[in-house]
Amino acid sequence: MAAVATKKSANKFSKKQQLQVLKAITHVGSLIPLVWLYIDYYTYNLGVEEVNAAILRTGFPAVILLVLSLAITPLNIVFGWSILGPLRKPLGLYAFLYAALHLTIFVVLDFGLDLGAVLTEIVQRRYATVGFVSILIMLPLAITSNKWSMRKLGKRWKSLHRWVYLSAILAVIHYILQARNDYNWPFALVAILTIFLIIRIEPVKAKIVAFRKERAKQAKLKAKAM
Ligand code: HEM
Repeated sequence: MAAVATKKSANKFSKKQQLQVLKAITHVGSLIPLVWLYIDYYTYNLGVEEVNAAILRTGFPAVILLVLSLAITPLNIVFGWSILGPLRKPLGLYAFLYAALHLTIFVVLDFGLDLGAVLTEIVQRRYATVGFVSILIMLPLAITSNKWSMRKLGKRWKSLHRWVYLSAILAVIHYILQARNDYNWPFALVAILTIFLIIRIEPVKAKIVAFRKERAKQAKLKAKAM
């Protein structure tokens, strides 16, 4: 009885209120790297290689937000946190925003809008080719991240949006290829993406969901008995 009462008082906020808080955290959290970059730029705190710093400080949030958007489904499978579902879209869109900024800074500030030189870099350097394909995949996903496209595309919408996994894998490969000595983050992301993919394999997913439901059932019985 006491356990049930504690749980009830812990859930004093409605699902709608909880979601509003989560959405606010997502928006504020996603915009922090951009605001921080802006402040550092205007206070001359980007160091001597400020263009390179801006490239790195837009690429990193892009890949992190992309991976976070992919965490929503596995978190729902493992913990039953279906409330996180609506956060996938803003996370994916912010990832695209940072990736687009990353590429824009590269093209405009690093290469002085010399599109021929940019094309040569993309064709000849593996890290740039992989990054380009990653952002190319993100583009139609970002464009179709709205209710109208969902309705128009029907079942094809889900198939199209599965490509986000390939985009994230390529983004991480791009990260590894351009990293010179610190491989901690890129390899942590490889491990995280691998876990996410394993959780989504149908038999694995079914086992996890069954286990979670059984545990919830046992917990309910235990609480009732108390
Ligand atoms: C045509 C597309 C792209 C180009 C030309 C490009 C270019 C670059 C360059 C020049 C660097 C810095 C290399 C250095 O000086 O150390 C970099 C780093 C990085 N890029 Fe990209 N990039 C592209 C797409 C992407 C995309 C789509 C993502 C993620 C979604 C991404 C994520 C990153 C990350 C995470 C880093 C390393 C950041 C760090 O070390 O903190 N890039 N990219």
